[in-house]
Amino acid sequence: MYPLKYSTTVICALFITIGAASVEEEKVYGEVGRSVSFGATRIDPLVSSIIWKQRNGASVVKAIEWDEVDDGVSAPNLRFRDITTLNETTGEITITNLTVEHSGLYTIDINSKEQEQKFMLEVLPPVPKPVIKIEKNEVNPDAVYLICEYSETIIWKNSTGGTLQGSPHYPNGELITVEKQGNPDFFYTCTLENAVSERTSDPVYERDLFEDKDEDKQLEEGEAKQNDEDKQLEEGEAKQNDTQLEKGAAKRNDGGSLWIVSVKILILILAPIIVFVIMYKFWPTFHKIVHDNFKDTPCIGAILKRLDGKNKDYSLPPHLVITAETNMNGDTQPDGEPNVQHLKEDGEDETEK
Ligand SMILES: *[C@@H]1O[C@H](CO)[C@@H](O)[C@H](O)[C@H]1NC(C)=O
Ligand SMILES: *[C@@H]1O[C@H](CO)[C@@H](O)[C@H](O)[C@H]1NC(C)=O
Ligand SMILES: *[C@@H]1O[C@H](CO)[C@@H](O)[C@H](O)[C@H]1NC(C)=O
Ligand SMILES: *[C@@H]1O[C@H](CO)[C@@H](O)[C@H](O)[C@H]1NC(C)=O
Repeated sequence: MYPLKYSTTVICALFITIGAASVEEEKVYGEVGRSVSFGATRIDPLVSSIIWKQRNGASVVKAIEWDEVDDGVSAPNLRFRDITTLNETTGEITITNLTVEHSGLYTIDINSKEQEQKFMLEVLPPVPKPVIKIEKNEVNPDAVYLICEYSETIIWKNSTGGTLQGSPHYPNGELITVEKQGNPDFFYTCTLENAVSERTSDPVYERDLFEDKDEDKQLEEGEAKQNDEDKQLEEGEAKQNDTQLEKGAAKRNDGGSLWIVSVKILILILAPIIVFVIMYKFWPTFHKIVHDNFKDTPCIGAILKRLDGKNKDYSLPPHLVITAETNMNGDTQPDGEPNVQHLKEDGEDETEK
């Protein structure tokens, strides 16, 4: 089963190869926008008709046709009209203003008989003019990478005309590593080539690849100046920060001070609460006013009860409360009134309960 399949394949391949070889198929290249001529043969003077056909797979298009009877040449297909000519004595076809759509296999019928010789035309765009990219070598300051990006043939040369071997560069193109020669006029070029065209880059000179020491110094000075500017900038910022602080502006954009601002805001919110709690707990007059006014308010009343409840001073004997108040103020009670009221209050509370 398998051997049979394989042998069939091999035999088929063999026939195709022999068939292809036996057909005279000439490869022809054309450049987009330019012209191409092919198919010049010695033609029998008795020739009465010539037809050129373009074949792309199954599609067949008549490119140009000549007939002795009406002595007329016609290229009716839009792809070939006005740009295709035929030499009636040689049979040579010429197509101008080429586009990639002219690519394909061309056959010629002479006296309505297809000739064995065929022409495979490939129309290619011209290569662009390459530009050499320079990349620093991080390891060796006396070497750089030169890169030329293109998907077809790339030729590297140095100024002595020697060809240099490039290595592949991702995603396409080639790279060469060049080392400092000590000659600023030494240069490198990159040439792109396809079947129809070639173009060479502008040369890249060694003097443009390696900074000499003077330039280094200038660069350093430049950096130093930049640093100075940075410093000035910092000082400016500091001043600005100071003025902002003076104004007491809490608005800052960066994350670090945002955190500080948050803490400040938190303190600003908490401080009155803490002050209130201290006043409520230790300043009897304040306590009485607040307590009287808010003890029956749903939410605040509950909070007040909480504040009072922990000490449970309602149940404390009067003398203990007085002692506490006295100690808290650090001197004897200026007037005993708050405590009296406090007690009275407590009494009321207890009677209410
Ligand atoms: C056809 O080709 C022949 C031979 O190259 C040349 O002498 C002749 O001028 C050509 N005719 C035309 C119409 O181009
Ligand atoms: C062919 O190209 C030339 C210039 O490249 C242009 O002047 C001419 O009109 C074009 N002919 C056709 C038929 O497109
Ligand atoms: C220039 O290229 C040739 C050929 O590759 C080489 O022999 C020569 O050393 C190169 N010159 C320099 C300075 O790299
Ligand atoms: C001034 O504030 C900016 C941002 O608000 C900060 O980047 C800079 O470091 C501050 N400068 C000083 C000197 O505090």
